[in-house]
Parts: sequence; structure tokens; C-alpha cells
Amino acid sequence: MVYYKVKNRIKQFIDKKGKSKVVCLTAYSKNIASILDKHCDLVLVGDSLGSVLYNYKSTKEVTLKTMINHSKSVRLGVKKSLMIVDMPFNTYRNPKEALKNVKLVMKETKCDGIKLEGGKKIIPIINFLIKNKIPVMGHVGILPQTDKKFSFKGKKIRESKRILNDTKLLEKAGVFSIVLECVETKLSKKITEQIKIPTIGIGSSSNCDGQVLVIDDLIGMSDSKFKFVKKYADVGKIIDGAVKKYKSEVMKKKFPAAKHSFKN
Ligand code: KIV
Repeated sequence: MVYYKVKNRIKQFIDKKGKSKVVCLTAYSKNIASILDKHCDLVLVGDSLGSVLYNYKSTKEVTLKTMINHSKSVRLGVKKSLMIVDMPFNTYRNPKEALKNVKLVMKETKCDGIKLEGGKKIIPIINFLIKNKIPVMGHVGILPQTDKKFSFKGKKIRESKRILNDTKLLEKAGVFSIVLECVETKLSKKITEQIKIPTIGIGSSSNCDGQVLVIDDLIGMSDSKFKFVKKYADVGKIIDGAVKKYKSEVMKKKFPAAKHSFKN
């Protein structure tokens, strides 16, 4: 029953293709997630939290337990958007392992689906998950869990053909959407035109059906220098100002005032 409710919402998500842009962002905790939920179609608990929150050198270090804990918090803030969780590195090496770990994530976090990185190589895993009624989001282009070099994809004809083919295989396997990470502009256009499910770009131009960014980058809470990031606010500066004021008032005994104190 729950699956069919989700299936309906996923259909609505897919139906946006060609009609309106799809808005997605990452979130790692409740308070931020509840703000994003008002504006987004999809909130992703990305394993980018490894570098954003934990200073890990790569997402390879992110564990299933960490993803589950952050996702539980995000779940408290997400009421209307689809909530998708990244399956971390080494948790989906074969169909059986993938299903066991995905079921655990779905049971513990009550998320609406999961995202896996890869193309042709992981099709048997995706087939098995979808056969077991798990909503799956794909991810091609730069694959942070396995790529050694993080330069944009689609420079060479062979690479472009492989990525285009991967997206077609993913669509055929039944994923409901595909993240294109740092895919060359003309290639992202070609992919978006040739598949019927929404492409969600990050560093892949406005040719995609929708966009995703890491929330900390968007609000200026990270030191990200990626070309594809746009900083829409400097929340770090606002927090800095508030903390400075708090410190000054504590030092001058202006805080707490009588109204913040208890009296018999
Ligand atoms: O981990 C993540 O945040 C992601 C997005 C950047 C798409 O996969």
C-alpha cells in the first residue's frame, strides 16, 4: 500500500518532464530540510555529507549508519517532497547485498527511494531492486564514489556514447530519474531529449529537466570552489554576526535580561 502511494508521487515527479523544471536540493538534517521541503520536488540525503560535514577526502568513507542517522533527521523535516537517500560506497556490490541494505535504509528512514551511482555495470542490481518494488534514482557523469579524476564528462566521443547508452539502460531498467553530474552541455541536451524520465543536472547546464545543488554550497556555508556552484546567500556571515552580538551582550551582562530569567 505504502509503495503505491509513493508510486503515485513518483509518477507526478516524472510527469513534470517537459512541463516544468524539477527543483532538487540536498539536506542532511531536519531544520534545513523543513525549509527546502516548501520549495523542492525532491530532497536528497546525499553522501556528499562526507565531505561537507565530516571533511572526508572521499565519499568512500561514508557508512550506511551515517546515512541512516542523517536521513532519519531529514525525514522529520520533509513532508511533501520526495525524499531520496544515497546508498553509500560498497553497500550495493551485488543484487543481494543491495536489496538487504536498501531495505534497511527504507525501513529505518522511511525514505521514498534510493540513489545509486553507475551505468551498465550496475544494471543487474537495479533490475533486482526494481523487481522488489524499490524506487531507484540513477546517477551518471562524475561518480564520486568510484572516479579517480573529477573532470567533466563527455569530452570524448567514446565517453559521450557510453554515458548516453548508460542513461538508456538505466531508463529501460526502470529508474524514475537520473542525476547527470558534470556532463558536457551538448551531451546533457542529447540525453534529456532521448530519455522519457527527468534528468537532474549538477554542473550539467540548464539543458537538464531539473537541477540539484548541495545546500551548504548554495547558502554559503561551505568553501566549495566548483564552477557549477552559485552562492545565493552568505548564511555564514549572518551566523557570525549573531554570535558576535551574543558574545558582546554576555560580556556586558546585557544577556540574559530579566525577561529571560525566572523569578519567584
Ligand atoms: O551526494 C550528493 O549530494 C549527490 C548530489 C550532488 C547529486 O549525489
